[in-house]
Amino acid sequence: MANPHIALLKLTSIFIVIFASAPELCGSNKTFTLVNYCKETIWPGITRSDNHSGDGFALKSGQTTVYTAPDGWSGRIWARTGCDFDNNGNGKCKTGGCGTSINCTGPGSPPATSADFTLGEPDFYDVSLVDGFNLPIVVKAINGTGNCSTVGCDGDLRQNCPSELASKDNDKVIACRSACDVFNTDDYCCRGTYGNPATCLASNYSKIFKQVCPAAYSFALDDPTSLITCSKADFVVIFCGSRNQTACSYQDKQVVCNRPNKAYKAIPQSWWVLMLLPLTYGFNLRITP
Ligand SMILES: *[C@@H]1O[C@H](CO)[C@@H](O)[C@H](O)[C@H]1NC(C)=O
Ligand SMILES: *[C@@H]1O[C@H](CO)[C@@H](O)[C@H](O)[C@H]1NC(C)=O
Ligand SMILES: *[C@@H]1O[C@H](CO)[C@@H](O)[C@H](O)[C@H]1NC(C)=O
Ligand SMILES: *[C@@H]1O[C@H](CO)[C@@H](O)[C@H](O)[C@H]1NC(C)=O
Ligand SMILES: *[C@@H]1O[C@H](CO)[C@@H](O)[C@H](O)[C@H]1NC(C)=O
Ligand SMILES: *[C@@H]1O[C@H](CO)[C@@H](O)[C@H](O)[C@H]1NC(C)=O
Ligand SMILES: *[C@@H]1O[C@H](CO)[C@@H](O)[C@H](O)[C@H]1NC(C)=O
Repeated sequence: MANPHIALLKLTSIFIVIFASAPELCGSNKTFTLVNYCKETIWPGITRSDNHSGDGFALKSGQTTVYTAPDGWSGRIWARTGCDFDNNGNGKCKTGGCGTSINCTGPGSPPATSADFTLGEPDFYDVSLVDGFNLPIVVKAINGTGNCSTVGCDGDLRQNCPSELASKDNDKVIACRSACDVFNTDDYCCRGTYGNPATCLASNYSKIFKQVCPAAYSFALDDPTSLITCSKADFVVIFCGSRNQTACSYQDKQVVCNRPNKAYKAIPQSWWVLMLLPLTYGFNLRITP
């Protein structure tokens, strides 16, 4: 996956079909393409703007979904892992759970890596480990103007998690909690006299996080260079991928990809057969392999 050629091959092997009758994207055209490169199924959660409930759905290994955010949406996208939902969509998850339904009814519970967005002009985005880490997330902005850097994690902090922060299931580390979550002290949590950037410094724990995920927030008042601005981009949120990976999004009926160290390139539609299925739970489009 580290090799861009392999990544591209893998990508082009994803088989997609376009229906001309696909629902039009109307209102805001900001699309989020969610890609699951993890070996397992994940259940992404997406917060809604108006309250702390949100959308949620399953995304199998290798699957891609397109989510169209409402105008002016701000919120986070994360992954739930190890979920077990029954036919009615009721159940629970080992990490990132947000209520007892496949549709989130509350915020994701830590530890969970999150991709945070504030849409506007420009858009702000970052990947945060402030609430811990459950799997690598990379965010790429496609076709935007401005800084538009790729942010997030290449590394898997579950493998480097200090034992006192490890969240385990049957002796397997399934997530890494934040030092604030575990020790709940003002210095780790940037509270009280530690409530400003001059006094809340990186800790030995957040330094480990930063080492594995240099382009992510590792603690509450981390160096704000991890917060990126970008205008007019569509976003690709990649679970368990690498920052070098080619990412594609769906724009104006075209699949548009970025390539590492190269200009954006629109892939001719004939290369792709896109399958766009309306989703029942408020999502406009879905692309399945
Ligand atoms: C990404 O690309 C850079 C430069 O080509 C390389 O040094 C780095 O090792 C790559 N990282 C990964 C995770 O593939
Ligand atoms: C959405 O797309 C339509 C045409 O495709 C365009 O007229 C409109 O300005 C776009 N809206 C936004 C918010 O970009
Ligand atoms: C949150 O907002 C959604 C959409 O407006 C609504 O359907 C849902 O009932 C709200 N949930 C709560 C807990 O208010
Ligand atoms: C999830 O929410 C959507 C509406 O947003 C609804 O159609 C669907 O039935 C819900 N699913 C479950 C399992 O609650
Ligand atoms: C971090 O620092 C604390 C207090 O100084 C110490 O108890 C702990 O062992 C250190 N942990 C690591 C992983 O270095
Ligand atoms: C974007 O911002 C990041 C972090 O602040 C910085 O490292 C990078 O050089 C900037 N890139 C561009 C193209 O301005
Ligand atoms: C995205 O890039 C493609 C290919 O370079 C270009 O044709 C298209 O106009 C761009 N779209 C936006 C919204 O900038």
